[in-house]
Amino acid sequence: MEENKRLLYLEAMDIDIWAPKVNLMVPTANQAIQEEKPPVNSESEAWQKLQEEVANCKACDLHKTRTQTVFGVGNLNADWLLIGEAPGQNEDLQGEPFVGKAGQLLNEMLRAINLSREHVYIANILKCRPPNNRDPKPEEVEACSGFLQRQIDLIKPKIILAVGRIAAQQLLKTNEPIGKLRGKVHFLDAIPVIVIYHPAYLLRSLLEKRKAWQDLQLALKIFHKL
Ligand code: URA
Repeated sequence: MEENKRLLYLEAMDIDIWAPKVNLMVPTANQAIQEEKPPVNSESEAWQKLQEEVANCKACDLHKTRTQTVFGVGNLNADWLLIGEAPGQNEDLQGEPFVGKAGQLLNEMLRAINLSREHVYIANILKCRPPNNRDPKPEEVEACSGFLQRQIDLIKPKIILAVGRIAAQQLLKTNEPIGKLRGKVHFLDAIPVIVIYHPAYLLRSLLEKRKAWQDLQLALKIFHKL
């Protein structure tokens, strides 16, 4: 899309523009994208199998209310894996994570560190929408966790961004509030995990934008130290 049009759309949707800062202290993220990783190929069968299993999954009650499963999207060789909570209404209808207004802001946040949806992989803790966007139930997380683990094993990301409180708490198996989880480096099987605010929350609390920017800077700093 043309730049002018993109900016107009974002403005019309009331979404902030996150411009990359020119004086970053660290190199931007796409300067070291996926250079050493081999192309997928031998793993494409495993991806296909996983995708079919997810599409046919009836392991919890969410299959009764979903329009479709929301598997994940992006670069199968991504260095950056973003993990959100669960599909919302737009995602359930379109079959892709983070496509609503929060998704537009997430795209802007990625742009701010010179990344795009094509560079990263985006998935959720749950592959099906909980009715009325309620929080995931423990048995739903349990039923879905194997799928996410297999996605992580196949992608082999260098860094994970846990998007929002629920994703962070589920991934890190903690009840700590997001205010305590952000600003630090956690690890999941030796992969660094940075917790960032959920864009839906940022849309409601613009005062937290500065902290969100700091979280992205922390992620970049860690990524360039890897
Ligand atoms: N919120 C999430 O956590 N995930 C989505 O895919 C959409 C909204």
